[in-house]
Amino acid sequence: MSESPLFPEAASTIATRVDALYFFLLGVAAFFSLLIAGLIIYFAIKYRRRSSREIGQRLPTHYALEITWTVIPFIITMVLFVWASRVYVDMVHPPIETLNIYVVAKQWMWKFQHLDGQREINELHLPVGRDVKLIATSEDVIHDFFVPAFRVKVDVVPGRYVTIWFHPTKAGRYRLFCAEYCGTKHSGMIGEVVVLDPPEFQAWLSGGATQQTLSEAGQQLFSDLACNTCHRPDLKGRGPVLENLFGSTVTLQSGEKVTADEAYIRESILNPAAKITAGYQPIMPTFQGQVSEEQLLALVEYVKSLHK
Ligand code: CUA
Repeated sequence: MSESPLFPEAASTIATRVDALYFFLLGVAAFFSLLIAGLIIYFAIKYRRRSSREIGQRLPTHYALEITWTVIPFIITMVLFVWASRVYVDMVHPPIETLNIYVVAKQWMWKFQHLDGQREINELHLPVGRDVKLIATSEDVIHDFFVPAFRVKVDVVPGRYVTIWFHPTKAGRYRLFCAEYCGTKHSGMIGEVVVLDPPEFQAWLSGGATQQTLSEAGQQLFSDLACNTCHRPDLKGRGPVLENLFGSTVTLQSGEKVTADEAYIRESILNPAAKITAGYQPIMPTFQGQVSEEQLLALVEYVKSLHK
């Protein structure tokens, strides 16, 4: 049925699972709709009033029937609940090893940033057969990243990072839509995902001018903004050491513990006073308005790359 023109192509591992669930749900709904509509018509005819003096009589409660039509729907809804939850949980939890790509949405375009430094607008090149994770944010309003062929759809919200992952199974070109009304040219905020065989993808990645990787761009920015005067690899800096920070647990002045993820690093650059690391003074100035979303991504990627 996925081949029918009514349905988008299924080009990711989750697509077939989403479809199976969808068709099951559709089947259950169709079965009961027809059954109930059929019974209504049948009973309306069978028990119609035959004379104007006829009066209906009260029927005794039929317990077996009551229990049956309570238990069967209960079982069906529980099956749906467990099944759908498993699909959902797998959809929202990316595997540990993924090909990461950053996405910045803005009125009215999609900007993609590969870690190797390649940048694209409204076109995203991916290899077939890899787990791909997108880390997305918006520069202005809420947009929504939607690739029907992958059955993935996520709101891209300004001020935070959202992640979405999928595993493309077929080479080809797939349409990308913005699925959240975001202004005059919302309908034009479309693009294409180009899924290539791995060798072709490598060729595509290495094509174009040799450029800085994203973390190299971040490193450059890190020294341009003089971040390195306070954040030093040794303990002599006025700011916390950033080596091995990413993914670690940070204890704050308030005693609260937080995980240093992308959102934490972003917040610490834009609003340093929000979460002060225990043992440090709140002396860092804000960089709000001084760095773009794309520069923030480069800085985040640089911090992620810092290991001892
Ligand atoms: Cu962006 Cu609609």
